[in-house]
Amino acid sequence: MKPRILISRAVFPEVIDRLVACFDVDYHDVDAPLAPAQLAARLAGKQGALTMLSDRIDGETLAAAPGLKAVCNVAVGYNNLDIDALTRAGVMATNTPGVLDDTTADLAWALILASGRRVVAADQWVRAGQWKGWKFHDDWLGSDIHHATLGILGMGRIGRGVARRAAGFAMQVIYHNRQRLSPVDEQECGARWVDKDSLLEQSDFLVLMLPYSPATRHVIGAAELAAMKPTAHLINVARGGIVDDDALIDALRQRRIAGAGLDVFENEPALDPRFCALDNVVLTPHIGSSTRATRLAMAMLAADNLIAALHGERPPNLLNPQVWRP
Ligand code: DGY
Repeated sequence: MKPRILISRAVFPEVIDRLVACFDVDYHDVDAPLAPAQLAARLAGKQGALTMLSDRIDGETLAAAPGLKAVCNVAVGYNNLDIDALTRAGVMATNTPGVLDDTTADLAWALILASGRRVVAADQWVRAGQWKGWKFHDDWLGSDIHHATLGILGMGRIGRGVARRAAGFAMQVIYHNRQRLSPVDEQECGARWVDKDSLLEQSDFLVLMLPYSPATRHVIGAAELAAMKPTAHLINVARGGIVDDDALIDALRQRRIAGAGLDVFENEPALDPRFCALDNVVLTPHIGSSTRATRLAMAMLAADNLIAALHGERPPNLLNPQVWRP
């Protein structure tokens, strides 16, 4: 008998084919999350699950699925998984690091450029038929990206990818991370470590690349925004909740910073409507990893993890090695 698994949300046909070859699959063939009670009900009797960042897996969910052995998240971030609860229940948890780094770094750059040069507001203005002729001193003046200072808070693989891309714009790159990179890695991505205060004060574009956890909640709040240059732009492609959205909306309204490019929000997808009234923020719907090639690679990596876990092998991206029994 094949192990039984749940695929919690619509994925690409290649991924389904791969999993159907190995497992008895219960497929929620809809690109929307299951409600928590439905998720728990569909997990009952399963040994594995391919889950998305919109699926909360906690002690309550796990209580409904005592036979569960592995939960394989199709995301590098895993703040939707209660790792302690999974570990207590002896359930392996995995994520998908590596395969989305370049795609997410590209989106950070799309937001740097769009926020700095006011691309989205200018596009809306042109579409609204308001362009009556070329102007000079009042002509959508933006912020230079070339030769500016790029700051990165959280210097993992994606942060390093963002830094590397800055060479083409002749930028100075500074970063802050609890753990400093090795001199070789600093040289490879052209970045210099500074303390957090200096990062806030010196960055023209500040990119957040931290994972979300209770310790990183509101790492950027009113005090940090006040420490930034009034000409600076804040870019978040990491997780909502790292920024205090209330404080950010205030800072943008009062032009205490020049702009923001945001791919993630507190309480997403319930976007704070006050963002929509601002012309100095660019908003995208958590699409950092969203190219077909990358989303497919993520889902395939999650499938690799699930296949390994349920075939008695150590999954390549195991987050809680304490539960691994060879
Ligand atoms: C992740 O993988 O954590 C992204 O936020 C979604 O692709």
